[in-house]
Parts: sequence; C-alpha cells; structure tokens
Amino acid sequence: MSAVIRGLGTAVPDRVVTNAELAATLDTTDEWVRTRTGIAERRIAEVGTATADLAVEAGAEALKAAGEQADAVVIATSTPDRSLPGVGPEVAARLGLGTVNAFDVNAACTGFVYGLAVAAGLIAGDIADRVLLVGAETMSRITDFSDRSTAVLFGDGAGAVLLSRGAEGDQGAVGPFDLGSDGDASDLLCVPAGGSRRPADPDAIAARDTFLQMDGREVYRQAVRRMVASSQKVLDRAGLTVADVDRLVGHQANARILDAVADRLGVAPERRFVNVARYGNTSAASIPLALADADLEPGEQVLLTAFGAGMTWGSTVVRWPSLPPG
Ligand code: COA
Repeated sequence: MSAVIRGLGTAVPDRVVTNAELAATLDTTDEWVRTRTGIAERRIAEVGTATADLAVEAGAEALKAAGEQADAVVIATSTPDRSLPGVGPEVAARLGLGTVNAFDVNAACTGFVYGLAVAAGLIAGDIADRVLLVGAETMSRITDFSDRSTAVLFGDGAGAVLLSRGAEGDQGAVGPFDLGSDGDASDLLCVPAGGSRRPADPDAIAARDTFLQMDGREVYRQAVRRMVASSQKVLDRAGLTVADVDRLVGHQANARILDAVADRLGVAPERRFVNVARYGNTSAASIPLALADADLEPGEQVLLTAFGAGMTWGSTVVRWPSLPPG
C-alpha cells in the first residue's frame, strides 16, 4: 500500500519583481544575483494577500485536476498567516472540505518532502484516504528588503498535490523517504525574534530581528553535503542507483547548489531540473512549483531532495504518474 499522487496545482502572485527592480534600492546588480544564485526574478504577493490565499488557489487546482475531494489537509509552511492558529483548518474550510483533519508542518524549505511523508503516514495509518498537501509561502513577509544578502533570494508561491491510496509500485507512489535534522545548527538560518524565545518587541523590530537572517556561506556548504547524503540514502533504500534517476528535482534555493548536488551525485546536466530563475527560493513551495514546470513524462523516475532551516533535509523518489491537467 502506498500514497499516490493524483493531481497537482500551483499558484503564484501576479507581481514579478526582477533583479533590476531590487537593484534600484539595494547595493546589488542583476549580474551578481544571476551568477551567484541563478535567480532572475521572483513573485511577491500584494499587501493583503496571505499564505492561505495562495494555498487555497493551488489546493483547488490540485483537487480539480485529481477530480477528488480530500479528507485531510496538510500545509507545509513557515510563513503562516498568523502565528496561531496554523493555516490548515482555514484552507480546508475555504476549499469546502468541512471539518476534516487539517494542520501545518513547519520544516522550512524541506517542508514539502516532510509533508509528503506525513501524508503517506496518514494514508498508511488509515487516518485519511485522500490527503491534500500544499507547500505555501509568503517569504516576502519575513524578508528584510534592506539586506542585500537575503533580499535577492526569496519569493512567494504555492504548490499542491492530492495523494490517495494505491498499490506499491504504482506510478505516482511516493517513498521510501530519508528525513533528517541538525538542531545544533539552527542559528545559521532563522528569524531571531517574534517567537517565544524573543517576542517581537520594539527593540527586536528596530534591530530588524523579526526578519530572516542567514550565514549564507555555511548554509550553502551544508545544503550541498546534506542533500547529497540524503539522496544517496533514499536511492539505497529504494534499491535504485543514480543511473535509474531520470530527473533530479531539488529544492530550488540556488542553481549553484543544485548543480553541486547533481555533480557530486553524478546526475547528468540534462537530467537536472532548475527553475529558480523564475521564482527564487519559495521554501516549501519550491518542489511542487518545480514539478509543475518540469514537463515530466509518465514513468520517469524522479528524485526529490530538499534542505532548509532547522537545519532539516529530506529526500524521496516517485515514478511520475500520468496526471490530468489542473
Ligand atoms: N549583491 C552584491 N553583493 C552581495 C550581495 C548582493 N545581493 N549579497 C552579498 N554580497 C557580497 C557580500 O557582502 C560579500 O562582500 P564582501 O566580500 O565585501 O564581504 C560578497 O558579496 C561575497 O559574499 P558571500 O556571502 O561570500 O557570497 P557567496 O558567493 O557565498 O554568495 C549567497 C552568497 C547568499 C548567494 C550564497 O552564500 C548562498 O546561496 N547561500 C545559500 C543560501 C540559501 O540558499 N539559503 C536557503 C537554503 S534553504
């Protein structure tokens, strides 16, 4: 028995912000951002648009594509509309799913892979038959647009899949999984204030500590190392080798990170998928947005791998199913 992907949906804000637009107010250039990250532009939600709005739009598309309803909703996000409650129940209600089991998973940029594992667990445990998993983020709300080292990296968006029960080996079956974390390194990428450790008091706001801060160089190094090791583990677990991987769809944080991961694994350039140029790093939304853009063929063996704040990392494999359009 397995959790099988039946439908896919996405939503991104209309507003496109180019590197040149950021360079108008920041000491940066389009060339610097493109060469260091591969990012050309990102989408930014208008004031008043929240994570749940993007999640509802992507979720509705996934449900429509699958032609099914869901009896559980899992939202992978680290940018919920409010710090309490999570957005899962609101998204479920707005999608007309009533009083179903609904909650959030916060594993930062690894959230979608963790969410797939949670969805698979809900189905395997007979807790739900059909799970709507949405990776949804408004990273712009925790981005300090006066800090050039992070302002150029992130974007907003959402991507969703509907999973339901199927047989192991079915096209679309997700798993096995490798998931991991290193809490000793949590300070490398965090929003220092606004939680229970340090509330968002006037001092924290003045110091801009309610925005995301990062040691970019160290995060880069760890991201490569962890995604390579996790990918190798999950391939071993699945009884596959790198030669079996038709497409590597990694978390879209930085094209250079994705290339370094693929080089070390030995995945040929034509088998890597990178769309970070269009959206920047959309955290938990990046993998489903990439899956939607990748023009995957039914039957292709896809390796998913992600890394993010926590630190967290995770990988899984899925033989791509034939999906109806959203
Ligand atoms: N424009 C121009 N210069 C910039 C800049 C920008 N947007 N951001 C940083 N710089 C400068 C730095 O200030 C530094 O200048 P200095 O040498 O005078 O101090 C210089 O560029 C080099 O900075 P460095 O941090 O070493 O650059 P880098 O090659 O490591 O690239 C990142 C920076 C952020 C692109 C890179 O470290 C990275 O991608 N890290 C991972 C980030 C990530 O993906 N996080 C999410 C993971 S889920």
